[in-house]
Amino acid sequence: MDYQQIIHNISEQIRGIPCQGEVASYIPELSKVPSNKFGVHLSTLDGEDFSFGNSDESFSIQSISKVIALTLAFNLGGNDIWTRVGVEPSGNPFNSLVQLEYEKGIPRNPFINSGALVISDLLISILEEPKKDFLHFVRSISENHSISYNHRIAKSEKRHGHRNAALVNLMKSFGNITNNVEEVLDFYYYQCSLEMTCKELAHTFLLYANRGLSPSSGEQIITASKAKRINAIMQTCGFYDQSGDFTFKVGLPGKSGVGGGIGAVNPGVYSIAVWSPPLNKKGNSVRGMQFLERLTTETKSSIF
Ligand code: DON
Repeated sequence: MDYQQIIHNISEQIRGIPCQGEVASYIPELSKVPSNKFGVHLSTLDGEDFSFGNSDESFSIQSISKVIALTLAFNLGGNDIWTRVGVEPSGNPFNSLVQLEYEKGIPRNPFINSGALVISDLLISILEEPKKDFLHFVRSISENHSISYNHRIAKSEKRHGHRNAALVNLMKSFGNITNNVEEVLDFYYYQCSLEMTCKELAHTFLLYANRGLSPSSGEQIITASKAKRINAIMQTCGFYDQSGDFTFKVGLPGKSGVGGGIGAVNPGVYSIAVWSPPLNKKGNSVRGMQFLERLTTETKSSIF
């Protein structure tokens, strides 16, 4: 398969289509990112790498970090974590409050904001130095020690994060947040502010394409069973109330972030990261989705 040529051709096609999306502005720092950035990186399990455009530029991975946080929490907390958070798609926007009230503070899944806040709470209870230890985990699974938080973005979100504060307080009222709400929010914002390039993200995601085993280090980061479950949640919940549409059009487990990134995997074959900041109304990258739909169609590499 000539992935380089295919990625190049699809990227050029996509860049020729006027983009309807809007760069996220509810986190003011994110609105400063130029809307025309576009990067792609595909890594195969055979150790090959293919890229296009701004693939070596760092961007805010935002909700894509929820996959890594879940991985660490699942590793450390085991199946008990599922008493605090579910595994069903929510059918609602990522920052919605409505279901939490009538479902008694138990979020539908770990990829909506409420679910990720519960995962942050779990990690704070387990880790000695949450921010430092989480960053250490990210660096070890990505095999890249230059990956870091972006303090400006974390602080910018903190100043405007009234909805996340509402979510965490509502869950606290139901007893599903055990730590101090400010501490949970602070850790969550730092986690979301992680920056990676498409290349770094694709390399990090390789373990989900390889039954939890890092192909480069040979380390079993998570068990095959846990990798299967995380991929299943990416498939059903990775794009919020557009998860069905993403499955329908792209057909890969994946996760989006409001920084305009998408990480996805074709188990047994490749991982891919796409970055283009303008988002659709559901908070997913417009061009990222268009690119991946064309890629899996042209390479016949959907999992279905
Ligand atoms: O909490 C938030 O709203 C952001 N830090 C993350 C949201 C996000 O990335 C949703 N993604 N599509």
